[in-house]
Order: sequence, then structure tokens, then C-alpha cells
Amino acid sequence: MATHKKPPASLIFIFGGSGDLNYRKLSPALYNLFIDDWMPEKFGIVGIGRSPYNDDDYRVRLLNGIKQFSRRKDEADSQWGEFSKHVSYLQMDAEKDNDYSKIGDLVKAKEAEIGEHPNVIFYLSVAPQLMPDIAKKLGALNISSETSTTRLVFEKPFGHDLKSAHELNQLLMSMFKEEQIYRIDHYLGKESVQNILSLRFANALFEPIWNRNYIEHVQITAAETVGVEGRGGYYEQSGALRDMIQNHILQLMCMIAMEAPVSFDANEIRNKKVDVLNAVRRINKEDVNQFAVRGQYGEGWMKGEKVPGYKQEKSVSPQSSVETFAAAKFYIDNWRWQDVPFYVRTGKRLNQKASNITVQFKKAPSFAFPPEAAESWRANRLTISIQPEMEVRLRFQAKKAGQSMSLSPVEMIYNPKDNEVEPEAYETLLLDVMEGNPTLFMRADQVEAAWKIVMPILEAWESRAPGNFPNYSPDSWGPEDADALIAKDGLNWITIQPS
Ligand code: BG6
Repeated sequence: MATHKKPPASLIFIFGGSGDLNYRKLSPALYNLFIDDWMPEKFGIVGIGRSPYNDDDYRVRLLNGIKQFSRRKDEADSQWGEFSKHVSYLQMDAEKDNDYSKIGDLVKAKEAEIGEHPNVIFYLSVAPQLMPDIAKKLGALNISSETSTTRLVFEKPFGHDLKSAHELNQLLMSMFKEEQIYRIDHYLGKESVQNILSLRFANALFEPIWNRNYIEHVQITAAETVGVEGRGGYYEQSGALRDMIQNHILQLMCMIAMEAPVSFDANEIRNKKVDVLNAVRRINKEDVNQFAVRGQYGEGWMKGEKVPGYKQEKSVSPQSSVETFAAAKFYIDNWRWQDVPFYVRTGKRLNQKASNITVQFKKAPSFAFPPEAAESWRANRLTISIQPEMEVRLRFQAKKAGQSMSLSPVEMIYNPKDNEVEPEAYETLLLDVMEGNPTLFMRADQVEAAWKIVMPILEAWESRAPGNFPNYSPDSWGPEDADALIAKDGLNWITIQPS
């Protein structure tokens, strides 16, 4: 017997059911929820795709994905027999109106089988250009008027720019209510990202100094060692700014910069975040060079292995000017953050797979100490590692043992790896959708506010070819221009060595 309340009966349709995201992330997440006893008592999962599978072949495919990508690869077979009875496949062409009646039929059949109307969840894990059309066709189904039980989940990217995101929002609002729409940003489902809220607001220690009076600057890094991994077709339409900064990194910035919420109500949290986005200073298109840097990896060596440059990747144009690295400096114009720079960077084929946030405090006055004591003085710094492992480090000064007064920086480290099992982001997010909790999802205005921030950079970059691509080597920390961006403020990028 579960000791917790399980979500209500749910029927989940996954568009893109034979695709990569479902294979690597969604099915492993749903299966882990099942093993942990979090799936509803009554549920069904229907993969939708064009590829011809029967239910058995489809289940074999999913199990194969779980064996490779689940955090619990070793337990793949343990409860699969029971779980897989709930999984089926629907071959249909999502572009054909007629095929949608099959969905309606399946919902009715499920209703009859379980004796109640389940949540009906449509997960759109498809190419962005297909989303509006699928949404329209789903909007025409009767079940879509069941506003409290029918939900749509949109994988990112949500729109290609501000205009298309706005149009998609308008289209959705003409057929659904906002509370039916779940726009995913999987970073928000990460345990370590949610931990930022507890760190900031469940401790008396940080909030009084969490402002421009004590904080010198903030850095956010999301670095990856992989290249585009066969996703060249998608990435050519995207680039690092759209793929990572418009969503994941700006969301991390919101978690760091938001005001304290008065409750954990979904709208309260999302209001506080959107306030941050609305306060981000707009960069003039003409000044983009002073605030943003782009890069693209060339061919080279990655941990002893020869790797192709971006232009040589599959489905990438040999003349491509798409950026695989982006760095930017933002300011948040409000009382808390005025004039505190937020430096952000992200890239593929960098030296480490690591996402972290560094809050650099101002230096404490050192005049009372002898000059030699202050030699190795380092200002306080709080580092929050999101991955590869959740870790929080606080650097402070301590006296070195001995008769003389000399100081050295030391760190307090919190790393829960030994005693806590972290669910994957998609587990948390899928459970939230079944429970009807949109807190960790992006509201329409949040997505548009985030697009507004990056649009001047996108437009400036699109109007001017980069000229020097490729400009960084695999296994590096990106182009030299990125170092220059921060060096001109007398600072440098902080790289965290994994413990
Ligand atoms: C996705 C991007 O949203 O996030 C990918 O589309 C990127 O390009 C991925 O690799 C990174 O996610 P994570 O969880 O591995 O940091």
C-alpha cells in the first residue's frame, strides 16, 4: 500500500511515441514512477507515431530504452511485466484530421474499462512546427472542453521567436484554458534546481544579504561535453541561445533573483519569476557586441577522441553560422539587483558537463588584519551545482593554525549524494501533470517575457554573419571572446572542479 496519495486515474497520449525523447526520458520516467508507487491505480500510456509497431514490438523498444537510459537500468526487468500491460501503441498520422477519432475512441474505451473519466494528457514531444496543427486538431475533440481533466504538455522549444511563441499562445488560448497547458522546461524539474528555493527561503542566513549591497555578481554556467548528437536538423534551427539561454538559463536566473513568494501557490511563484524577467534590462541591438558573445566548435580532440566540428555534423550545413556556444551579461533593473551583473554561458563540446550557479559576494573590509594575513584573502562565494551532482559550497576565510595570523579560504560543502535518491526531472514533471500542479511549468507570459530578453541578440546575430566560425576547440571553455566579455569588468569565469 502506498503511504502517499497517488494521482487520479490518467490516460497519457505521447505524440512522438516512437521518438528519442520518449525512448530516453519519458518512458524511463514513467516506469520509475511506477516502481516508486507513484503512478495512479488506474492508468494507460499510449505512444502515438507513424512508424508501424504492434503493442508488443513497441513495448520491447521502450524496455530497450529503459535498459540504456533509466537511472535504474539494473531494475529494468523487475516490474516491467506489470507496467507494460498499461502501455500500447497507436499508429496514426498526426497531420490527418480523421485519425483523431481514434483518440476519442480510446478515451471512451478506457472510461468504460475503469468506470470513471480519467485525466486525459496529451504530451507533444514533436517537432515545433507540428505543434500548432496538432493543438488545433486536439482542440476540436470533445474531451478538450473538460478543462479540469484534459491537459496538454508542450516540450520545448515553445516557439522559434517572440512572434511565433505569441501566436502559439494565442492559438492555445482560443481553444483551451491556461491551466490546461503545461509548457515544459525540464531544468525546473531537477531536484537541485528546486533546492534553490529551499536554500534561499528556508534559511534565515541568506535572504538579508541577497542583494546589491552584498553581492558583487552572479554567474550561471551550463556546459556540455557532447556535440549536437545527431540532432543537427533541430539545432540548425535553434542554436545555443534559443536552445539553452531563452529557457533553462533564464529560469535559473529567476530562481536566484526572484523575490520571496508568500506561498508555494503556482501563480504566486510564477508571478515572482515573471517580475524578474520583466525587469531584465533590454539590450539595444546596436550594443549586442558589448553584452553577448557567440561561438561554434571546430573539429579536434575530446578526452582523447577525435571529434568532428559542428559544420561536419550530420544534417548541418557546411556553411552554418549557427552558434553552439553563447555567453551574455544581463542586468536586472530593480531595487534588489540594480547594477549587479549576471553573467551566463552555455555551450556544446566544452571541457566539462557541469551546470552551476555562483553567487560572488563583495569582499569584507580587511584593514584590521596584518597585510600578510590578507594575502590569500578571497571574498565569500556561494556555489550551487545543479549537475553532475547537486552540491552547495560556501567559501569563507579561516585562520590557518599556527602562531601567526594568516588566513586561507575554506569551503563548507553540502552534497546529499550518499543519502538521498534523486528522481529525474521528467519524473517530477510528469507526476505534476497527473496531479494537476503547474508550478514548475512555464506560463504563457513567462515564455514571452523570456523571448523578449533574447530577441535583440538573436536579431543582431541573424543580421551579421559571425565571420570567424569555428572559433573554439572541443574540450575548451569556449571562444576567447567569452573570456574578454567578463575580463573587461575585471572578472573571470569560475570553473568548479567536481569533488
Ligand atoms: C535540452 C537541449 O533542453 O537540454 C539540449 O535541447 C541539451 O541541447 C539539454 O543537451 C541539456 O539538458 P541536461 O539536463 O543534460 O543539462
